[in-house]
Amino acid sequence: MTAPALRGKSRRMTPSITIRPATRHDHPALKAICLQTGDAGQDASGREDDPDLLGLIYAVPYQVACPETTFLIGDEAGPCGYVMAAPDSLAFQRFLLTDWLPGLREGRPDPGPDPAGWTGSDQWRHRIHHPPALPPIDLARYPAHGHIDLIPRAQGRGIGRIAMDHLRRALIRAGAAGMFLEVSPDNHRALGFYAALGFTRLCEGEDAIFLGQSLVDGASG
Ligand SMILES: CC(C)(COP(=O)(O)OP(=O)(O)OC[C@H]1O[C@@H](n2cnc3c(N)ncnc32)[C@H](O)[C@@H]1OP(=O)(O)O)[C@@H](O)C(=O)NCCC(=O)NCCS
Repeated sequence: MTAPALRGKSRRMTPSITIRPATRHDHPALKAICLQTGDAGQDASGREDDPDLLGLIYAVPYQVACPETTFLIGDEAGPCGYVMAAPDSLAFQRFLLTDWLPGLREGRPDPGPDPAGWTGSDQWRHRIHHPPALPPIDLARYPAHGHIDLIPRAQGRGIGRIAMDHLRRALIRAGAAGMFLEVSPDNHRALGFYAALGFTRLCEGEDAIFLGQSLVDGASG
């Protein structure tokens, strides 16, 4: 089902966009958007030697496992972003470990433990062989986790706020009480964006800040 175009409701004259559930036919677009935003919000294509891998870790599995909460955003020029979440992070982690990562590892050997020797997409190849555990977050309070990425032409126009509102409504329909997000500490823009949307800091990991928000009426943080 395609959502109706959202027209200029914001005081910043947001352009017409569509937000619709992504399908398997959108996998190339999901991977391209992920690559264009994969270096702390900046274009990662100059760094990667396996350009599909970022999207195969951070975008495509959400469409496969959580199609009701994975959305492609489009503007007049075509796909320009996505917003997606797993309503149940524990179930999604099980899906990754059991069903998704084994296939991704084929033809992508472990580059070994020493980051000093890594080049190209080695950090992601390492990650698929050694997937991190879920962060120490209260998953009863914040069971969902999500991602949003807009390519440069779509940024700073109010689309991010509209897309996150869309995602939050979908997560509420899916029964999630709250959601968390992972942000690179270098991604100052995203940190400012999430703060403007009311996310609060939950904890920090290695090279990551985890933010959360309740989706239950009346709750804060
Ligand atoms: C981060 C991102 C999703 C934000 O979406 P956006 O469409 O650019 O943001 P919006 O224009 O909808 O801004 C929404 C609100 O956040 C605020 N905001 C945005 N950037 C901000 C910043 N750097 N500092 C403070 N506030 C900021 C805006 O002022 C706006 O507030 P308002 O609605 O009260 O006026 C988008 O820029 C993006 O995809 N960037 C590249 C990929 C990325 O970094 N993804 C996140 C990875 S964790």
